[in-house]
Amino acid sequence: MSSQVEIDELPARPDATVNIRETFQVDIDGDAPAFSRRTLHAPAIDASYRFDPGTTMAILSGFADNRRVIVQGRHGTGKSTHIEQVAARLNWPLVRLNLDSHISRIDLIGKDAIVLRDGKQVTEYREGLLPWAYQRPVALVFDEYDAGRPDVMFVIQRVLEAEGRLTILDQNKVMLPHPSFRIFATANTIGLGDASGLYHGTQQLNQAQLDRWNIVARLDYLSEDEEVAVVRQILMQMVRTAEQTRVGFQAGDVSTLMAPRTVISWAENYRLFRDLDYAFETAFLNRCDEAERPVVGEYYQRATGRTLDPNARGPWRRTD
Ligand SMILES: Nc1ncnc2c1ncn2[C@@H]1O[C@H](COP(=O)(O)OP(=O)(O)OP(=O)(O)O)[C@@H](O)[C@H]1O
Ligand SMILES: [Mg+2]
Repeated sequence: MSSQVEIDELPARPDATVNIRETFQVDIDGDAPAFSRRTLHAPAIDASYRFDPGTTMAILSGFADNRRVIVQGRHGTGKSTHIEQVAARLNWPLVRLNLDSHISRIDLIGKDAIVLRDGKQVTEYREGLLPWAYQRPVALVFDEYDAGRPDVMFVIQRVLEAEGRLTILDQNKVMLPHPSFRIFATANTIGLGDASGLYHGTQQLNQAQLDRWNIVARLDYLSEDEEVAVVRQILMQMVRTAEQTRVGFQAGDVSTLMAPRTVISWAENYRLFRDLDYAFETAFLNRCDEAERPVVGEYYQRATGRTLDPNARGPWRRTD
């Protein structure tokens, strides 16, 4: 799998396959369709991710057979990342849209905007996220599906049918889905309301709407053994990164090394920020000489399989 391309350079349909057993550790013979080249929109691979076999197969049917898959489960069970990590291994572009924020129908489908063209004010249609994704090989994930506003849910309902069309009335436009467009959703509740009181702000889902999902997968917390395995793998990556800096220091390639205390800070920062990269940057990388940071980034990549973005300033974005 080679260099990155623009999303519009991808073939209309997947042009490669991955072996399910090797890629997802599911005990089954078979392949899943994939793209041979990555775009910026393909999620980064988290090498320590543990795939849940049932959920993986459900998500794979979403990609391979264009099934509508919704993953339900308590917070932090890995619903969003599970879909992302499957997409990452298929090189399938993916866009997540969180319905719990203040997403409106207009954000989704677009709107007329006044723009300046050759010094004149003209009205121009600005495409929303949905029509953009709908016409591209993109997996669109509706996160917090049970928190979506009714006006938004009705728009989504229209595109849920595999043979569906997207009509933008205000624009007099009818669009057909791209053959590799996919839809997924994640939710804490299954639309019957929340009896536990844990998920304030969730809505009851219209049954006609829920009916349009072909597959409902349920994800639970990892078993004790598996959780230990995940944590151990992350720790191994941290310790290996530290080792690399020590070898590099010995060889005179870098002038700062990671002492065990730094590894502990990194782990503590990870607990606070829940982002391995940012935790590493704040625990160690930002302390290194600027000229040596690319080398340290290489150590990090070797040990964790993750690429640091030199321009990233943490995983968060402003709300505006
Ligand atoms: N199976 C797993 N293997 C490795 N890491 C996991 C796994 N499951 C969850 N995690 C980690 O747990 C964190 C939470 O996962 P994620 O955000 O996908 O949960 P979620 O179910 O979508 O939660 P929410 O309901 O709050 O949206 C992430 O950092 C993820 O990497
Ligand atoms: Mg989530």
